[in-house]
Amino acid sequence: MTPDPIIQTHNLRKIYGMGDIQVNALDGVDVRINQGEFVAVMGPSGSGKSTLMNIIGCLDRPTEGRYFLDGEAVSELDKAQLALIRNRQIGFIFQSYNLLARTSALRNVMLPLIYQRNGNLPNSEREEKALAALEAVGLADRAHHVPTELSGGQQQRVAIARALVNDPVLILGDEPTGNLDTKTGAEIMVLLHELHDRGRTLVMVTHEAYIAEQTQRTIVLRDGKIEMDNHNGSRQGASVSFDASDRVDDGYRESNADGVTESGGAGDRSS
Ligand SMILES: Nc1ncnc2c1ncn2[C@@H]1O[C@H](COP(=O)(O)OP(=O)(O)OP(=O)(O)O)[C@@H](O)[C@H]1O
Ligand SMILES: [Mg+2]
Repeated sequence: MTPDPIIQTHNLRKIYGMGDIQVNALDGVDVRINQGEFVAVMGPSGSGKSTLMNIIGCLDRPTEGRYFLDGEAVSELDKAQLALIRNRQIGFIFQSYNLLARTSALRNVMLPLIYQRNGNLPNSEREEKALAALEAVGLADRAHHVPTELSGGQQQRVAIARALVNDPVLILGDEPTGNLDTKTGAEIMVLLHELHDRGRTLVMVTHEAYIAEQTQRTIVLRDGKIEMDNHNGSRQGASVSFDASDRVDDGYRESNADGVTESGGAGDRSS
């Protein structure tokens, strides 16, 4: 049986600057990523990696082409609809963590649940889910610390917990280990591998070949096109069968329900 695609794009294009100078940030990208895959996206600076991730992550819309997320044609949706899809389906991890600075780890992780429109969870239940997500990343004992009281690796783990709390179908990372030293980056990779082993679908941008090699498949972009799409050695293969009850609770998105955040996502809007 062919696994279901979580991501399917057809001739995706993104053109920036409609004036004299146009940049074809994405120039016809066709990609299919199946449930349970762990994929690395590589390529030189400016090749379109973040642009692709932002479209896949419903933070931005393509200029042309179609994108199906878990079977739904999301390229046809407006920004408000995209925000809802993003909140429900996607956990995004950024290079610079994007946590609210004066807000506790627990509260940061709760944000996607607070922005959730339907579902209206009671606060106690939000807290419970957020704590469970923090526990899953080994940070339950830091729940009441603010980001400045945490190390870079710990902050990224909070961001991962936030990316998990809504139980998304897809976890995306735009250089999630990019700001971390090698050892801390390796710890984050262990976490991402655990999520993958539990059946999650993960796509992450990295500049590091040794990190890409740990995934199942590497997609290389150049000038907005897919230059290479290879399976990586031994980790290639079967998606783990997946029991929904097994999923860690997760989420991200401090984006407001009515707007898509700027490219790169949620800024620091601490109160
Ligand atoms: N908001 C924008 N307006 C205009 N041009 C943009 C915008 N965002 C990206 N670009 C351009 O689109 C191209 C692709 O950018 P993108 O950020 O996707 O590259 P990248 O592969 O993520 O690079 P890096 O490795 O440096 O992060 C670049 O030429 C960039 O200058
Ligand atoms: Mg980038």
